[in-house]
Parts: sequence; C-alpha cells; structure tokens
Amino acid sequence: MKKSIFYTVIMSSLIFVACSKTDTAPAPPPPPDPCLGVTITPVASVTHTTTGLTQGTVTVSSPIGSGITYSINGINFQASVNFYNLGAGNYTLTVKDSSGCSGTSPVVIKGYGPTFFQVRTLINGYCGPCHLNGTVNGGKNFDVDSDVVNSWDRIKARAVDGIPTFMPEGGQLTALDKQKIVDWINAGHQITN
Ligand code: HEC
Repeated sequence: MKKSIFYTVIMSSLIFVACSKTDTAPAPPPPPDPCLGVTITPVASVTHTTTGLTQGTVTVSSPIGSGITYSINGINFQASVNFYNLGAGNYTLTVKDSSGCSGTSPVVIKGYGPTFFQVRTLINGYCGPCHLNGTVNGGKNFDVDSDVVNSWDRIKARAVDGIPTFMPEGGQLTALDKQKIVDWINAGHQITN
C-alpha cells in the first residue's frame, strides 16, 4: 500500500514535469491590426516663401476630425491643421488618426525671389476665384507659377495699366500692389527675382 502511494506520487510528478516541459500553452493570437486596410493620404495646400526666409505655410484639408494629429517632421504631432514659418525645402506631412494609423504625403515649399513673392501673394489674394483653384478665365491659370511668369506683360497691362480694362474684374489693385508688379517686372520678371 505504502509502495503504491509512493509510485503514484512519483508517476504524477513525472507526468507533471513532462507536461510542463513539452505542452507549453499556445501563445495568444496577436490583437488584430487596427490599421489593416486603412489608407491615409494627407491632402494639403501650401504657400511658399522668399528664399532665405521662413514664410511658408501648410494647411491640411484632409483628413480632418477629432483625434487626428499632424506632423511636418514626423516627430512633433499637433492637433492644428496649420503649419507656419516654414523655409524652402522638401517636407513629409504625416497624419495620424485616433487609432494611431498614419499616412504621409510629400510637401514642397518653394523659394521665390523677393519681388516675385510679393506678386505671387497678391495674385493669391486678388485673382481668385477667376484664375485660381482650377478656374481658368481668359486662358490664365495662375495656380501655376509658370503661367504667372509667362503672363507678366498681360498682368501689367490688365492689373496696372487697365488695358483694355482693369483686373481684377470689377475692381482695381491699390497703388501699392500695382507697384509690386512693376517692381517685379523691373527686377527681371522671373520666379527668382
Ligand atoms: C472676378 C473674376 C476675375 C478676377 C478676380 C480676375 N480676373 Fe482676370 N480675367 C477674368 C475674365 C472673365 C477674363 C477674360 C475676359 C477678359 O480678358 O477681360 C480675364 C482675363 C485675364 C487675363 C488674360 C486676358 C489678357 O488681357 O491678356 C489676364 C492677364 C488677367 N485676367 C489678369 C488678372 C489678374 C492679374 C488678376 C488679379 C490681380 C485678375 N485677372 C483677376 C476675370 C477675373
């Protein structure tokens, strides 16, 4: 009797040892990836800068919503869709949603010559919607810098001299803004002037 208890104890111990050594519990399945099938493609508009200065801006238009954060360097994330004070250069815009899923888009801040920067800024301010954001009147698409550069003489005729009529249509630039166009033309009317 004593002997059988002894063997029972020994056998149980052996089984226990054997089981604990070989039958390790299966690892729990990894949690499902919340980002599986999630594609985030940031969309942003930019304004550029005078070369050597930090006047560039980035404004994210999509995706927006609660819990979404934005980064221009991939390190510091912010809730605001606006970035200011950017120098000319190539950036990577990263957008992260509330689940931590993220996507990136390249963003380029161009460096303009100082007088072209003034003209570009006034065109952005006064020549929309008729010549901006995809709207083309009179064959002029001022979204494109080269269209502004190539149209320098017509921009002067219409926005400075009013020949045959003044632009912006239905109004007129201030003397100060007309002078910015004249200064750019006198400087050589290129992007770099
Ligand atoms: C409210 C709408 C509107 C705004 C704002 C506007 N334009 Fe125009 N623009 C037009 C239309 C319409 C035409 C085509 C008819 C014409 O030439 O008058 C035109 C044509 C032009 C042309 C090409 C025709 C030509 O004479 O060579 C130039 C250059 C031009 N605009 C410059 C400008 C500039 C520069 C600004 C901003 C300072 C501006 N426009 C703002 C409506 C607008």
